Amino acid sequence: MRTWFITGTSSGFGRHLTEQLLERGDRVAATARRLDTLDDLAARHGDRLWRARLDVTDTTALREVVGRAFAELGRIDVVVSNAGYGLFGAAEELSDEQIDRQLATNLTASIHLARAATPHLRDQGGGRFVQVASIGGQVAFPAMSLYHATKWGIEGFWESAAAELAPFGIGVTLVEPGVARTNFGTGAFAIGDPLPAYADGPSGQLRRMISGELPPLPAPGDPAKIAAAIIASADQPDAPLRLTLGSDAHALATAALRDRLAALEAGRALAHSTDADDVFAS
Ligand SMILES: NC(=O)c1ccc[n+]([C@@H]2O[C@H](COP(=O)([O-])OP(=O)(O)OC[C@H]3O[C@@H](n4cnc5c(N)ncnc54)[C@H](OP(=O)(O)O)[C@@H]3O)[C@@H](O)[C@H]2O)c1
Repeated sequence: MRTWFITGTSSGFGRHLTEQLLERGDRVAATARRLDTLDDLAARHGDRLWRARLDVTDTTALREVVGRAFAELGRIDVVVSNAGYGLFGAAEELSDEQIDRQLATNLTASIHLARAATPHLRDQGGGRFVQVASIGGQVAFPAMSLYHATKWGIEGFWESAAAELAPFGIGVTLVEPGVARTNFGTGAFAIGDPLPAYADGPSGQLRRMISGELPPLPAPGDPAKIAAAIIASADQPDAPLRLTLGSDAHALATAALRDRLAALEAGRALAHSTDADDVFAS
């Protein structure tokens, strides 16, 4: 039996992970803003479900809950940073408060969770971090700039931290799902105040999708299958740094990386031309 700590377990990937892990006999420390969403699982699985109310943007509470979970459960094998939401609209349409909240939820809270859990994982001789990132941390679309800022940001954080943590037997996996059938696109998002200047562009188009005037984006991802793939990856002895999930995610990442590599190769001579004269040309 392994023990998991998961944020944002009231719906979507967090809920599917919690359900599947309890079903297979693991123990889950599930955190959520609304604890009653877990009542049915508590009734079914008893002590194997440990629960704590947590808004991940409350850093003091986050540290307290992480400390209490390790103290009460003894050992936690996998820590999953999952809580998050999308902020949509052109950058100019967003309020300062919407931007701060998006960064605090999707980016800063994940960093604080990592920092709060790391000493415990080191003390117990190792463990695993799973970050629910997004294909939106590898590619970018208009009208989602702040969401992309959080997901590209958390990719950079973990790629660096993974190398710091490897000597302690702590693995890191960045999960990069494509569009999936959770509450993410159906109401649990925030959107800026529309400005007429953007009405005919991608931001206006997104609003028309949300209002039902235009068909929504295809959502190929099955959250239950995505949760199962995350669990299977954490069962592997070596953590894969990235887990790209969904046919859309795979196609988007492949095209984006090919384009970037082609642009990089085209810019080789220019890049080398800016070295100081005493640098040996290679
Ligand atoms: N679905 C997709 O297409 C997709 C694709 C790529 C990545 N993702 C990522 O997947 C993660 C999970 O989202 P989901 O798709 O499963 O959507 P979801 O069904 O809306 O679930 C999001 C979860 O995050 C929680 N949450 C949001 N803000 C929180 C806060 N401040 N404190 C604590 N919990 C908070 C929500 O809690 P409440 O119920 O209290 O709001 C909910 O439990 C997110 O990080 C998202 O960016 C989703």
